[in-house]
Amino acid sequence: MTSMADAPTGKVTFVGAGPGAADLLTFRAARAIAEADVVIWAASLVQAEVLDHARAEAEILDSAAMSLEDVVAVYERALAEGLKVARIHSGDPALWGGTQEQLDRCRALGIETEIVPGVSSFSAVAALAQRELTIPEVAQSVILTRLGGGKTPMPPGEEVREFARHGTTMAIFLSAARSGQLVRELLEGGYPTGTPVVIAYQATWPEELVVRCTVETLEETVKEHKLWKHTLFLVGPALDAEGTRSHLYHPGHFHGYRKADPEARKALREARGRGGTP
Ligand SMILES: C[S@@+](CC[C@H](N)C(=O)[O-])C[C@H]1O[C@@H](n2cnc3c(N)ncnc32)[C@H](O)[C@@H]1O
Repeated sequence: MTSMADAPTGKVTFVGAGPGAADLLTFRAARAIAEADVVIWAASLVQAEVLDHARAEAEILDSAAMSLEDVVAVYERALAEGLKVARIHSGDPALWGGTQEQLDRCRALGIETEIVPGVSSFSAVAALAQRELTIPEVAQSVILTRLGGGKTPMPPGEEVREFARHGTTMAIFLSAARSGQLVRELLEGGYPTGTPVVIAYQATWPEELVVRCTVETLEETVKEHKLWKHTLFLVGPALDAEGTRSHLYHPGHFHGYRKADPEARKALREARGRGGTP
């Protein structure tokens, strides 16, 4: 006899697959793919090795050929037949993945959902550039954004020009096709022309390209390499700041697991009193 508790209910797991390289999957992501009856993925956004985790008999669907309605039809079938679906998204599903509209449909259907976070492309590009995006007294915020225009208008106040006024680190997605507009808005917002920029195309893929330039040379660099998609920009003074030191690892700073060195603590206090680092 099958009790209600045993009845098939189905489940959709939104899996962040990282920026491309299959070994940037988390263990949890690999497990969700391995347990799935149906895997929906985008061949152009995630490397095929990710599917090595799937069971041989799993149904594999390419989302490139599917509308939201097609995808929701799979979720309806999963609910009716008690299937586990792994819906693979590039990077982290929390960013520009079209995941919310799917979560809303799942909620309306009454099918269980889970989200497995992934390595976002902005983290992957920072790692490739070997830079920390938050540097004491230089940049303590990271703005994740995209250019307005095209199919997705920006909500008021969210233009790159407005965010650029903060002068902090920006990670700019989905904007390579309008590099001229990007440079204009960065300059209008107040970044000096010499502000360092990291441009990454297909980060962690075999065809990966990572180039450093400045706001002044951003447009020509994009055009020289013919970049218009799968490109991410990191912009801001943190990308070449040197000689700073964080408070956290200063010997004069104490916390629950470490005592401060008295002399270093005194020096730290004096430096703070003068308004200096750290
Ligand atoms: C639809 S958004 C998805 C973002 C994704 N959810 C993430 O967390 O990275 C696609 C954009 O992300 C950036 N992107 C994603 N993967 C990338 C990669 N491997 N290299 C460079 N940029 C990438 C590009 O700006 C691309 O236009």
